[in-house]
Amino acid sequence: MSIRSPKRALDAAVEAGRWAPSVHNTQPWSFAVTGEEISLRADTSRKLPVSDAAGRELLISCGAALFTMSTAMRCEGYEPAVRILPDPDRPGLVATIRPGEELEADELTRVLGGEIERRRTHRAGFADVPLPDRLIESLARGAMREGAKLTPIRAPAAVHVLAALTQAAQGVQAQDERFSLELIRWSRPPGSTRTDGVPAEAYPREPVPTEPDFPQRRYSWRHGWGTRAEPAEVSTGVVAVVTTRGDGREEWIAAGQALQRVLLHASAHGVSAAFHTQALELDLLREFLRQELCSGEYPQMVMRLGVTFDSKDVPRRPLTDILE
Ligand SMILES: Cc1cc2nc3c(=O)[nH]c(=O)nc-3n(C[C@H](O)[C@H](O)[C@H](O)COP(=O)(O)O)c2cc1C
Repeated sequence: MSIRSPKRALDAAVEAGRWAPSVHNTQPWSFAVTGEEISLRADTSRKLPVSDAAGRELLISCGAALFTMSTAMRCEGYEPAVRILPDPDRPGLVATIRPGEELEADELTRVLGGEIERRRTHRAGFADVPLPDRLIESLARGAMREGAKLTPIRAPAAVHVLAALTQAAQGVQAQDERFSLELIRWSRPPGSTRTDGVPAEAYPREPVPTEPDFPQRRYSWRHGWGTRAEPAEVSTGVVAVVTTRGDGREEWIAAGQALQRVLLHASAHGVSAAFHTQALELDLLREFLRQELCSGEYPQMVMRLGVTFDSKDVPRRPLTDILE
């Protein structure tokens, strides 16, 4: 057993928080440590003004960072004391987190902690390996613990509708210069040394269509960037949505916490996620999705879950950039 100290727990939490997923790898957060408390702040200079004007995806990303920090702190033997949106006068302050009661981490928490740096977003089809229902059920229970719902979309007709909505959204965004310019701003050329944005090494050069097809974002635009895809991996996987009852800042943070719990747990079972959130960035399509496929709950993330033997490295900003 490692030696407990609040300082170690704080260091572990800020180091771990960096590895959370974020829209376009914007890493829209900063951390400040005062005494034994970490302040997690939203960095709105990293918000996507066109596709995420309300800051929904920004707060989902920050929620994912918050869950990551809590998990790291638990692995150091402290139950985190978290306050979400603690100060109405400081809307950028997403949460404060401090090492609370001393508590040995349970096995699941340790497993989740072990996946923080290993988990990666996938951007192609999956290997033809079925996912056990039991795993999907336990991922859904995990999402619920964080205040959101993970629903697998099982009916083939519903999967087709969701794929069609994604295709429509992708088509609309590809034609709109404002969306394209925003995407290009966060796309990195091969060999780039930038520590944010989506690197050319993180997606296949040729889009890999699944049946039905969930199009990938065109990070490479017209450049032909990307790597060779694994030709045998063409399965769609299990399509799932993360939803919340309400649609305010607290729910977005909860969706982010649930997302990261799901992703780390899935990763521990060799399961990766591919995201397709284009339709959620267009109000009409998001509302349609809410009414038709989400039983009136608000869709926050759309993903496919599956097995891949592909693995990519995606950079993160160094702590010196993030720590205030
Ligand atoms: C709110 C949110 C939306 C995202 N939407 C997409 C998406 O539509 N397509 C995609 O390929 N990745 C999407 N991602 C994944 C990010 O691009 C990814 O987390 C980031 O590039 C960091 O890479 P990593 O997850 O491999 O560490 C999304 C992530 C978040 C948190």
